[in-house]
Amino acid sequence: MNSTNGYHHQQQQYGEKRFGASHKDRVRRGTRGGRSRDLRDGHGHGGGTVGVRVCEQQQRPPTDFDMAYFHSYAHVGIHEEMIKVVVDVGCGTGILSIFCAQAGAKRVYAVDASDIAVQANEVVKANNLSDIVIVLHGRVEDVEIDEEVDVIISEWMGYMLLYESMLGSVITARDRWLKQGGLILPSNATLYMAPITHSDRYSESIDFWRNVYGIDMSAMLPLAKQCAFEEPCVETITGENVLTWPHVVKHVDCYTITINELESVTTRYKFKSMMRAPLHGFAFWFDVEFSGPCVSPTINHTPSPLVENNSIDGSQRKKRANPNEALVLSTAPEDPPTHWQQTLIYFYDPIEVEQDQLIEGSVTLSQSKENARFMNIHLEYASGGRSFIKESVMR
Ligand SMILES: C[S@@+](CC[C@H](N)C(=O)[O-])C[C@H]1O[C@@H](n2cnc3c(N)ncnc32)[C@H](O)[C@@H]1O
Repeated sequence: MNSTNGYHHQQQQYGEKRFGASHKDRVRRGTRGGRSRDLRDGHGHGGGTVGVRVCEQQQRPPTDFDMAYFHSYAHVGIHEEMIKVVVDVGCGTGILSIFCAQAGAKRVYAVDASDIAVQANEVVKANNLSDIVIVLHGRVEDVEIDEEVDVIISEWMGYMLLYESMLGSVITARDRWLKQGGLILPSNATLYMAPITHSDRYSESIDFWRNVYGIDMSAMLPLAKQCAFEEPCVETITGENVLTWPHVVKHVDCYTITINELESVTTRYKFKSMMRAPLHGFAFWFDVEFSGPCVSPTINHTPSPLVENNSIDGSQRKKRANPNEALVLSTAPEDPPTHWQQTLIYFYDPIEVEQDQLIEGSVTLSQSKENARFMNIHLEYASGGRSFIKESVMR
């Protein structure tokens, strides 16, 4: 047992002792309609049978809602879900772990290396879930869990998907504890990029300096461009800023990806602008999908259309919309904004592109040697006889 996971030790003892109570709580859920029936009554006809206890004063016929509720418990799936063991990689305040416990998980290991684990433990206690949720204060790489788990959940996605990414820790958890055939949520992720036009943003940051209250301050322009555009910007844009269909930079299958694959990701892109516009740079965004291993592209050996062909036209997008009926969380410019927004790599100066003009080059995203949570971005660009390289660091 690792010395950092004090809660594990403490909570496990406590949890074992109280586990029966939690089972009773679950049985009690079926009694909210006013009836309390001992499970020894196999047929549900109480009158005089030993072991039957009915609260007469609260009797009422079951409603349609009751029937639907009880019907849902007749399906074997829900009983299977209720005996699952879950690990929450980077639990933070414990909110996802608590959702899992509320959904009926038998046990949830909530792991976080930050001191927020102390609060997570308090939150778990305040919600009377200490018998189910065990907070482990330590790194996923270091803590000990003495059983295999059925499900790994994690909110690991960083800006531009891979920045400050914890995906390596999810891979570690998978390789340490996930049962054969277990579930990883989210199960796969895709990082996209597309050329963008954003004249308002450029004007606000740069054109302002051309004339400030009648004073020519254009000497400020080089510095203003450097300050505004040297590093990647996390901002919200809309679909109207995007010049063409996106390109897939990286598809991540959480069931199979390796830590080595994440050290450096390179892709070549080739776009055809759908309109004449000033090109200000590129936007990056991602989506994640929640699906079981049986519908994971790699596990059922059905490659995703996006993995096969990196460029997306309208028909591919349609196919991609929900190939496996999976739940998708998208951070795309055309979708409702999220706290991830989009990540923009701006050029220092816009480039006029014509409709149908080719925009091509490559991008390499690599973990910084100085700090693996930082990301180096190497962008090569060529179009209309111009080419350049932009290096930036997301820190
Ligand atoms: C983006 S927060 C997610 C918090 C929580 N799951 C939520 O959805 O609110 C990521 C959390 O993962 C934790 N974390 C990152 N790497 C970790 C590691 N290797 N081991 C344990 N915790 C880690 C961080 O301390 C942080 O609390």
